Amino acid sequence: MKPTHVLSVVWLISVLTASGLTGCGQRQDVNPVPAVTIANLQSAYAKSASHQAMYAKFADAATKEHKSATARLYRALARSEQIHAEAHARLIRTIGAEPQSPAIQAVAVGTTMQTLKFACSCEGIEIGSMYPNMIQSANAEKVPDAAAQFTVIRDADGSQFDLLNDALQHNGYPTVNKFFVCPGCGRILTARTRADCPGCKTPKELLEVI
Ligand SMILES: [Fe+2]
Repeated sequence: MKPTHVLSVVWLISVLTASGLTGCGQRQDVNPVPAVTIANLQSAYAKSASHQAMYAKFADAATKEHKSATARLYRALARSEQIHAEAHARLIRTIGAEPQSPAIQAVAVGTTMQTLKFACSCEGIEIGSMYPNMIQSANAEKVPDAAAQFTVIRDADGSQFDLLNDALQHNGYPTVNKFFVCPGCGRILTARTRADCPGCKTPKELLEVI
């Protein structure tokens, strides 16, 4: 066979494969890679890992200001973000991709009131636009596990926002000083709200006390 004929055969096979057609003209089911969802999971993984490191720094700063309850809240937030990061990395692998090592974003650490304002802004963006957009994309690409995970973690971030805002509204002092982190989804509960996790149904006995 002449080289030009070989190239023609290769081109024809490529076209048939790309179009999902077989030699009999029948269309086979194609299971496309959910590229947007994988990219979103990677982005959420990096964001959660950065926030874990950020909240650990904020906890140290609050301790130096003798705001022990706020420091405890930040440690609960760091643990929550660690759970989120691990969940995103795990789901990337389940889908068949490999999570990339997240680049940890540098952050300036100011006073506790400044860190609370910044943290509220970060969580507000995640629950208001980041996760809703990711849920929409996962549904469009028909990846229900990702849509479900983004939803549960968006709600967990809602619990983070409420606690941060509580501290912000009380001059940097949260009105509770004990926190319970769900090991399943990272939702943070308090002594007032402690129960089986409303997000992922983890029994209350398994919540981690911070
Ligand atoms: Fe949970």
